[in-house]
Amino acid sequence: MTTMTERHKKLERNVTLLGVAAFLTVAIGGIIEIAPLFWIDNTIEEVDGMRPYTPLEQAGRDIYVREGCYVCHSQMIRPFRDEVERYGHYSLAAESMYDHPFQWGSKRTGPDLARVGGRYSDAWHVQHLENPQSVVPESVMPQYGFLLDSDLDIEPASRLKALRTVGVPYSDRDIARAMEDMRAQANPDADAEDLLDRYPKAQVRDFDGQPGRLTEMDALVAYLQMLGTLVDVNSAAAQEELATETGR
Ligand code: HEC
Repeated sequence: MTTMTERHKKLERNVTLLGVAAFLTVAIGGIIEIAPLFWIDNTIEEVDGMRPYTPLEQAGRDIYVREGCYVCHSQMIRPFRDEVERYGHYSLAAESMYDHPFQWGSKRTGPDLARVGGRYSDAWHVQHLENPQSVVPESVMPQYGFLLDSDLDIEPASRLKALRTVGVPYSDRDIARAMEDMRAQANPDADAEDLLDRYPKAQVRDFDGQPGRLTEMDALVAYLQMLGTLVDVNSAAAQEELATETGR
């Protein structure tokens, strides 16, 4: 007993010794948490349906980030009853596994958008983005009508390549065909079979009401209409729960 107290006294009164001991203690905890991450490929339960975004959706996502939509909108439905009743099934980790940067957020001046896809028509989105107050008179959302007049002038292949370096599984073919894919998705007359093969559930049509012109509005609306539509959440959540219960 006395020797324990003696030793402890020594440790407590010697700053260097205490520093080293504290460092070692924290380091052990840190290593135990971090080391396994070097050996497992993926910390996220994969679910059916999740795929990398099409070049058009990704372009829309980049416009969403550029315009700061995230300042007012989150994209993560919390597993609480009020959230689920308002926005739909709570978000699964896998649903944002290809997001760089993620858009979870906690600031909600406007509603959460994680499952806004398919809730409104394209025309509604275009009108709402052009002039939110024409749809919701008390809205404080800014107007984004200029997107209708901005050609989507980007080179999507390099964007996809950059995402691939951080782990989004785009194939060589996805990258080689990025420009065709981007154009085809907004063109109802294009042959989209190949696009749909590689990006199941991709919605192919003219999104902004200006057929024959590919604008930033096309990309943004394509992105919004995709949000929350890729994964069949009920069966995926059931799968995930089963995996947790059985320790998989
Ligand atoms: C200053 C805050 C603010 C910014 C910035 C903002 N919004 Fe909104 N947004 C709102 C508010 C408030 C509402 C609810 C009223 C309405 O529908 O206009 C809303 C509603 C929406 C809705 C309808 C959601 C629903 O479920 O009814 C969509 C879609 C949307 N915003 C998309 C966007 C996009 C895309 C951008 C960026 C281009 C953006 N917002 C930027 C505040 C904002």
